[in-house]
Parts: sequence; structure tokens; C-alpha cells
Amino acid sequence: MTQVTMSVNGKPVTRDVEGRRLLVEYLRQDLGLTGTHVGCDTSQCGACVVHVNGQPVKSCTMLAAEAEGADVTTIEGMAAPDGTLHRLQEAFNEHHGLQCGFCTPGMIMSAAALLEDNPHPTEHEVRQYLEGNICRCTGYHNIVKAVLAASGQDVALAAE
Ligand code: FES
Ligand code: FES
Repeated sequence: MTQVTMSVNGKPVTRDVEGRRLLVEYLRQDLGLTGTHVGCDTSQCGACVVHVNGQPVKSCTMLAAEAEGADVTTIEGMAAPDGTLHRLQEAFNEHHGLQCGFCTPGMIMSAAALLEDNPHPTEHEVRQYLEGNICRCTGYHNIVKAVLAASGQDVALAAE
């Protein structure tokens, strides 16, 4: 066991973890942050995306011990402390960017990283950036619309 300290959604957390513990297991099972999902065992689905030091990371590909000293943000950390949803969460809701919702936390975390880097992406850039996030329900169109809407752009222009 190794003692690991990191900030999770703005709060310092110190726990003993096994060296082989994945970050996603640590978040879900040790910290109870089950909004981060596991949708595959091949690092392909993106349901497990969280931010580590501001960068989107598939948390099934990283050991918890590797996050020593890092700032980790999960979907639970996206809403404001008073419960006000993040603009992406609002936009996914408003533009029907989800159906079953399984992919949604990872989609939102990836999209948030995109908007951080590129506040006004084109539709093509949104589709390209979200390539690593798989959705089995929506056909992606409303997800793209939601991301464009959250960036303040006219979603009526988004291609069908
Ligand atoms: Fe599928 Fe991490 S669980 S990419
Ligand atoms: Fe069901 Fe995306 S909404 S997997």
C-alpha cells in the first residue's frame, strides 16, 4: 500500500492505495464518486474521463498512485457548490444530448476540456475532439449541438 494525497473536486484526500489500483476504481469504489463510469476494458469508450490537472484523462488508464499531488475533477465537481449546473450540463439537458446517460459524464468532461482550450469550436472540431467518447444511444448529433450551444454558438447552424 502507498499513501496517496490528491485534491478531488477541490478537497484534499489522503488514502492508502494498492499500487495496482486504477484511478477510476479509486474514485468510484474508495471515494464513492460513481458518476465516473466504466464502459469498457479496452480504454476506448471514454465513459471514465476525468480532469487531472485540467487535462482530460481516461481514468481507467491511470493508476491512483500516479495522481499523487494532482488536482482531479470528476463530474460531481462540475456543478457549482449551490447546485447550479455547469453550462454543459444545462446544454445537454436542453438539447437532448443524452438518452441513457451512461456516456454523459465522460462526454461532459471531455467537452469541458475542449471548451477550455477552444471556446468557440466548429462542429467538425467538436466531433473530432469527442472521437474518444462513445455513445450507444444518441447518434451524437444532439451531443454536438449541446456542446456548440454551451459555447454560445447558434446550434441551428449545426448540420443534421
Ligand atoms: Fe472505457 Fe475507460 S472505461 S475508456
Ligand atoms: Fe446512452 Fe450515450 S446516452 S450511451
